[in-house]
Amino acid sequence: MPDTYDVAVIGAGPGGYIAAIRAAQLGFSVACIDDWTRADGKPAPGGTCTNVGCIPSKALLQSSEHYEHAGHAFAEHGIDVKGLAIDVGRMLARKEKVVAQNNDGILYLFRKNKVKFVHGRGAFAGGSAKDGWLLAVEGPQAGEIRAKHVIVATGSKPRPLPGAPFDSVRVLDNAGALTIPEVPRRLGVVGAGVIGLEMGSVWRRLGAEVTVLEALPAFLGAADEAVAKEAQKLFARQGLAIHLGVSITSVKAGRSGVKVDWNDAGGAAQSAAFDRLIVSIGRVPNTEGLNAAAVGLAIDERGFVAVDGECRTNLPQVWAVGDVVRGPMLAHKAEEEGVAVAERIAGQHGHVDFDTVPWVIYTSPEIAWVGRTEQQLKAAGVAYRAGSFPFAANGRARALGDTSGFVKILADAATDRILGVHVIGPFASELIAEGVVAMEFGASSEDLARICHAHPSLSEATKEAALAVDKRTLNL
Ligand code: FAD
Ligand code: NAI
Repeated sequence: MPDTYDVAVIGAGPGGYIAAIRAAQLGFSVACIDDWTRADGKPAPGGTCTNVGCIPSKALLQSSEHYEHAGHAFAEHGIDVKGLAIDVGRMLARKEKVVAQNNDGILYLFRKNKVKFVHGRGAFAGGSAKDGWLLAVEGPQAGEIRAKHVIVATGSKPRPLPGAPFDSVRVLDNAGALTIPEVPRRLGVVGAGVIGLEMGSVWRRLGAEVTVLEALPAFLGAADEAVAKEAQKLFARQGLAIHLGVSITSVKAGRSGVKVDWNDAGGAAQSAAFDRLIVSIGRVPNTEGLNAAAVGLAIDERGFVAVDGECRTNLPQVWAVGDVVRGPMLAHKAEEEGVAVAERIAGQHGHVDFDTVPWVIYTSPEIAWVGRTEQQLKAAGVAYRAGSFPFAANGRARALGDTSGFVKILADAATDRILGVHVIGPFASELIAEGVVAMEFGASSEDLARICHAHPSLSEATKEAALAVDKRTLNL
């Protein structure tokens, strides 16, 4: 007899584990199935985000930033460091420890909320909405599960470059990029997206000569143009060699390196040899092994589980959230969808506001935004007013010794309602939360400008950018 639950979740990434916890909070019996396994055979819930994504990348970004500061920024503070060296093995071990703490934290949360964690690979095996969907589990905790509701949260996987399969030695995906055992002398990166810039920054700070090859002619096309321009300038100054408009023609991995050939933006043939090559050209939904066909679960033409705006699939009581469905591939978007689906199952009105999902790129300076860019407003013919304030004029940024970048606010010309907030600079990842709250509450730029902000703080740059919308900055 299969174990029976109200809700079964396939996948324990941020979408799945959060959905499972919220469903349990709402009084349902819940099982969450996940197949990720640590080297020692123990389960590693948390998905891409915890194991080979958000968490380990931020751990390495922190380590490499400390190293760079010790080498370049401390002297100005009167701190001399002698014999500075990086022990990559210890840095990677710390990252693994941070990951394991998060894995264990999720197992603790499951126990606390009485979610049954099932270590293994889940697949549809039949059933119906009336009798309950049947799932077959293979792996350490093999068996059968029957559930009234199923939430598919199987995430995504890296997209390989045609003709250059990942080999985990020379041609690396995100997992490989996070486990390079020594600082490569020459590192190639294909794709100047979020992973390329973050991982390129890690290894550049540690001493690698980094070349980034991007297919599109424009840098960071999704960001506000002013932010993208500033970022490109600052990254070039740091030493990231970014080539735009390239077309890769060949990748040949050998015993000691990788040779990459490409045509540059002008069509001229170029070539370079790297010790390692990170390929970060986007991710694809992961529906492999789900046996969607067994129950007729619809997959769209791009391979995503097809869902409506509320994460309902074509099958009654089968839902899907996170990277495996349309929308940005972000952990917090997956989590919000997970919560909303659990609440909808409980008959509540779960809601995700896709217009206020923040984006953060954890480079130095950090880049973050919410809402629309200036180019999007122009294209949509929306009349707007813009205000910017540079961190160079912010006291806290000067004290930190990190004055690059600015805050930019876009507001509706007629109503003054905030339409977009864009930050490039120190702690942009934290500063953007104020923009998200403001937009979620339908604030005007004047609302932000009239709020008392602590002094000295970086958030004063946000207040000043709001004042700049009305051309009345106080500190510029
Ligand atoms: P996933 O996290 O991919 O989890 C899916 C889980 O389901 C996995 O554990 C998988 O093994 C399991 N699974 C799949 N199929 C089955 C099956 N049949 N049976 C059982 N288990 C199954 N996003 C951010 O918001 N901020 C960041 O800073 C950030 N940094 C990132 C850095 C990198 C290098 C990468 C690669 C991604 C990063 N992301 C970041 C994106 C983020 O990791 C994803 O958006 C997020 O993990 C998606 O969550 P998910 O729950 O949909 O899927
Ligand atoms: P991405 O979509 O951010 O960037 C991929 C880049 O590769 C694009 O600029 C694209 O134009 C380029 N590209 C595509 N094909 C190419 C080719 N053949 N040659 C050269 N360039 C090519 O994807 P990325 O960096 O792989 O990350 C995947 C996703 O993971 C992101 O979209 C994001 O959703 C998530 N992520 C989020 C992070 C964060 O929130 N801080 C950090 C890392 C990843």
